Amino acid sequence: MTTIARPRVLKDTYKMLIDGELVESASGETFEAISPATLEHLSNIPDGTEEDVERAVRSAQEAAPAWRRMGMQERCKIYLELASRLREKVEDLAAVEALDMGSTISAMRRDIAGGIHTIEYYTGIAWELKGDTMPNSNGGMHFTLRQPHGVSASITAYNHPFSFAIHRTIGALLAGNTLVLKPPEQDSITSLMLAEVVAEVFPKGVWNVVTGFGPTVGAPLVRHPAVRRIIFTGSAATGKLIFKSAADAGLKSVTLELGGKNPIIIFPDADIDKAVAATVAGMNFTQTAGQSCMSNSRAFVHESIHDEFVQKVADRMSKVRVGLPLDEDAQMGSVVSEAQYNKVMSYIEIGKQEGATLVLGGERPSDPELKGYYIMPTLFDNVNMGMRIANEEIFGPVLSVLPWSDEERLLADVNAVDYGLTAGIWTRDVHKALRFAHEVEAGTVWINGRSGTQGMPHGGFKDSGLGRLGCMEDLLANTQQKSVNITIE
Ligand code: NAI
Ligand code: MG
Repeated sequence: MTTIARPRVLKDTYKMLIDGELVESASGETFEAISPATLEHLSNIPDGTEEDVERAVRSAQEAAPAWRRMGMQERCKIYLELASRLREKVEDLAAVEALDMGSTISAMRRDIAGGIHTIEYYTGIAWELKGDTMPNSNGGMHFTLRQPHGVSASITAYNHPFSFAIHRTIGALLAGNTLVLKPPEQDSITSLMLAEVVAEVFPKGVWNVVTGFGPTVGAPLVRHPAVRRIIFTGSAATGKLIFKSAADAGLKSVTLELGGKNPIIIFPDADIDKAVAATVAGMNFTQTAGQSCMSNSRAFVHESIHDEFVQKVADRMSKVRVGLPLDEDAQMGSVVSEAQYNKVMSYIEIGKQEGATLVLGGERPSDPELKGYYIMPTLFDNVNMGMRIANEEIFGPVLSVLPWSDEERLLADVNAVDYGLTAGIWTRDVHKALRFAHEVEAGTVWINGRSGTQGMPHGGFKDSGLGRLGCMEDLLANTQQKSVNITIE
């Protein structure tokens, strides 16, 4: 085992960013950041309050006029400076992220680098944020302006905290909004490390960061009347709550990136070995111990290839090396918290009681060094859509195989859940692939593998969300159009 050292950058206590200053919470209280993998205390995080939200929103309001008037080139320059300073800190950020969320250092290097890479893409498309001109009418000239909403809030989930802190704020900020970011309470440290760099390069008040819990920081942000735009990443239940309580305070622009119960559909003519590898990779065991909105937790496998497929998937899953966050050889870490551990374990119990066949995992690792909230990669077979484990998002390392035989029934089962985030399709038959791509209720479809590129919209159908991120539509959603009509005759 090659283990890197505990990062020396870790501070005893971190501070929030409000009005350009690194500050404690108004109450002076903190809560503990712990590593769910090693159970060690990492640091103390400011326990933000409604008063902190109030100060942050006021500061964002005050910073708004100058920020919206600033030229796009200046805003992009600030972002490129941020990117270059962050690039020097990738190793520190990755090590801290791995410890704080329980994932592995190798996975977190990719996550941190991905977050920084987002800046290159967005500063590239920023200039395309422009209005239209219309053909002139009788005596008029007509054009539209794209203007920011004002103060926006981004509330993020725990599974990619650093990359969300960039990916789910940059559209709003580049479009000229000012912002308050509320990081996840389970792993806030890298968002606060980012805040330290933001404090150096952004004008004060443009980007504030308030840490704390949903009810005490998230909820007051959502219902604050001056916050006109909300970008939320989290569970469908919280997303719905936010949608409702936002409307009580005023009509706001809301983007919701919520959960998934994503299918991967294997047709009998698929390249089995590649489909097996994709099914295991698509569970994101090695990125986030399966805690991903995009994990393909329902594998629909044609009965003619079912036995071979399940055996090969089990074989591959059993080779995933579970280990400590700073172990360079480890491929999968722990889940994020005791609460998430209990939730996943309870679903494993539910699966057994519902009559699904537990093929692999379902328990803690045997290695006594892995003391934290570890759950081995878990495989259920003979799952059907009558079971809770086939319908509800588990958000952990649990994959279910659902055998199928009839194509129409398959399509109905695939679309039977409330979610609709992603879908994988494996077949060599182009007609089948395109028919399913057309009919499946999902915001993203992958045919024969998860290829992807910057700029492809990310977002959900049905209860998986509203709006799209990672693309031009994100920048546009962070603006409102104004039609300007001039009489020239
Ligand atoms: P969660 O909904 O419990 O928490 C998400 C964030 O909302 C946290 O920062 C939390 O403090 C805050 N929050 C909680 N209650 C709130 C309230 N009443 N008002 C305002 N803010 C509140 O979600 P969790 O369990 O932390 O994250 C996992 C979920 O996120 C899964 O369902 C997952 O699928 C989803 N997710 C979706 C993604 C997407 O892009 N579609 C990406 C990553 C995660
Ligand atoms: Mg933690």
